[in-house]
Amino acid sequence: MEIFLDTANVDEVATYADIINGVTTNPSLIAKSRCNDLCEHIIKICRLVSGLVSVEVSSIEYDSMLAEGKMLAKIHDNVCVKLPCTRDGLKACKQLSTAGIPTNMTLCFSPPQALLAAKCGATYVSPFVGRLDDTGYDGMSLVEDIVNIYKAQKYGTKILVASIRSPQHVTQAAMLGADAVTMPPQILWQCFEHPFTVKGLEIFAKDVKDLSKSVS
Ligand code: E4P
Repeated sequence: MEIFLDTANVDEVATYADIINGVTTNPSLIAKSRCNDLCEHIIKICRLVSGLVSVEVSSIEYDSMLAEGKMLAKIHDNVCVKLPCTRDGLKACKQLSTAGIPTNMTLCFSPPQALLAAKCGATYVSPFVGRLDDTGYDGMSLVEDIVNIYKAQKYGTKILVASIRSPQHVTQAAMLGADAVTMPPQILWQCFEHPFTVKGLEIFAKDVKDLSKSVS
């Protein structure tokens, strides 16, 4: 399963560059990064990772979305153009995919949206599990539905589970057979940091110290 870091912060990407495949950004994350020059900022991120870096269009209408998508794709070979699962977004996805530009269909909240994203040739579809959970709906059941649809229909679009709020979401996504997850740095940190691992290391260090004292 591919692991993406959900951030537009260059330092955070650098910190985890060795264990992530790529990066996903969105307009809110870009705004939070307070970058002055979007192109330069994206290039910096792309140079840190070997995989794709999703960058979202800000336009909501087809023509401008397409133009913006083409412009973003020119920034770096590893840019994956992120488009919303709307009528215009799907139309732009089809055009960009046909032109060989990687795409990530974002803000996916229903199985039919995922079905259409695949039909339009999307490289990735991003179901937002956390935001669905927030509404009382089980976000992971959307992922399960998309996994089943893509299997039944033999679609090649990869499922990139997004809006992840806990390491449990990561585990569930992996068990369901999702192709990728994207998570913020604090969740990635929680994936490897375990209190018992920390405690175990403290015990080992103490035992080694005690033993060296008793032999000296
Ligand atoms: C994914 O590509 C999105 O940037 C992200 O996962 C959204 O997460 P949020 O719901 O925590 O904002």
